[in-house]
Amino acid sequence: MSSKTNIIDPKTGKYFLATFGCQMNEYDSNMIGSMLENRGMSMTENADQADVLIVNTCSIRGGAEDRAYARIASMKHYKKMRPEVRIAVIGCMAQNHGEKIPTALEHVDYVVGPDNYRDLESLIFSESTPRQGSGTEVRKVWTEQNDFENYEGLMARLDGSVSAHITIMRGCNKQCAYCIVPNVRGVERSRDLESIVAEVRHAVSEGIHEVCLLGQTVNSYRTEAGNFAALLRKLETVDGLRRIRFMSPHPRHFDTELITAMAECSKVCNQVHLPLQSGSNSMLKKMRRQYTRERYIEIVSELRAAIPNLAITTDIISGFVGETEQDFEDTLSLMREVRFDYSFMFSYSPREGTPAFSEPETLSPQGKQARHERVMELQMQHTEERLDAMLGRREEILIEDRSSRDANEWMGKTRCFKKVIVPHAPGIAKGSFVETRITERRGLVLRGEYLNA
Ligand code: 5AD
Ligand code: SF4
Repeated sequence: MSSKTNIIDPKTGKYFLATFGCQMNEYDSNMIGSMLENRGMSMTENADQADVLIVNTCSIRGGAEDRAYARIASMKHYKKMRPEVRIAVIGCMAQNHGEKIPTALEHVDYVVGPDNYRDLESLIFSESTPRQGSGTEVRKVWTEQNDFENYEGLMARLDGSVSAHITIMRGCNKQCAYCIVPNVRGVERSRDLESIVAEVRHAVSEGIHEVCLLGQTVNSYRTEAGNFAALLRKLETVDGLRRIRFMSPHPRHFDTELITAMAECSKVCNQVHLPLQSGSNSMLKKMRRQYTRERYIEIVSELRAAIPNLAITTDIISGFVGETEQDFEDTLSLMREVRFDYSFMFSYSPREGTPAFSEPETLSPQGKQARHERVMELQMQHTEERLDAMLGRREEILIEDRSSRDANEWMGKTRCFKKVIVPHAPGIAKGSFVETRITERRGLVLRGEYLNA
């Protein structure tokens, strides 16, 4: 039925969500999805059919913003075809650019920052789509920061993956010199412990056996009911839950209490993502990371001594302002010492509003690119070496999906977060746990055979 007003009918309305950036954005998208579905809307993966198009954006590096702008620009024709369609830009870039977004892209109806998602719901179901040139000034931008907004009382929709990602804290109190996150995500705030436990229990009741706890500095989690180590111990007692992961912890908050809890909780996986950023003490100081190279190596040693077969992954930035050849060599030498299972490697991208932004870059784009390539080349050697070390090992795999290469095979992950391909077998489905022996490495993927099949 067509209607003269352009109120979206929640009963028949459909939303489309495109998400850029990290798992925290994925979680927020799922949380907004559940908010809209509670009103009766349904999700569509076909933007042509959507009444509301939402783009959840990332600001971490310049490239992420460019990609989001391109995607939003490409949505203009939906509005042309169906003027009642509403387009909302949300997330970190919404917070970062605010008014600039609808100024550049007139077809955007709303810009909503990470602390204003509760407003999004009422905006979508409000009387009329804001229009420019209608005579009255219509508010499009909702980016007030709220240091207390934790979205208590909301749970994210489960998106069909075998692992539920659950945000346990929001914001960041660090001020790493290169990082835009504290500007756009605000100060650190931890969710109520019991509400996290309730969300985990809910996921388990829906058939999920693995959770990944999310936070910008997830291990600085703290409430009156306990710190991060206490939360892990509490989740260890949730019946039916089999695997607990978390990301990303900050080395500054990695202490013996946490390492002991990880070692003593059988459900906490033997995998940790511990962002390094640089192996040079002078760069770490300039980045305001609050630890030294020596302390980082000490944490790794303590972790490896406490947790057998631990996989360690990291984030590395090369080409930060003032990084000398020696500083860069220090990063490579730390990599050789630790031998990370995998790294997410980034070339420094200056972000306006961050402490380092005013400092002139000291490397040419080619010089930065060359370092980025060297770091990737070294990591590739270590990645292969760490995968080879898995050969012959007995591993429990959680089946995630059909293999993308061959639909007759399955892809799952070990407790140490390595991808393994296994053949099809009776009774195997998404979400199954299977015991395997690792038999082969092909490129960056392991293959396994079933044990006790
Ligand atoms: N340039 C390059 N990489 C960055 N990161 C954060 N800010 C920047 C930046 N300005 C990286 C860090 C962080 C990861 C999420 O993104 O390595 O851990
Ligand atoms: Fe950014 Fe540093 Fe906070 Fe991580 S800890 S989000 S790198 S400011």
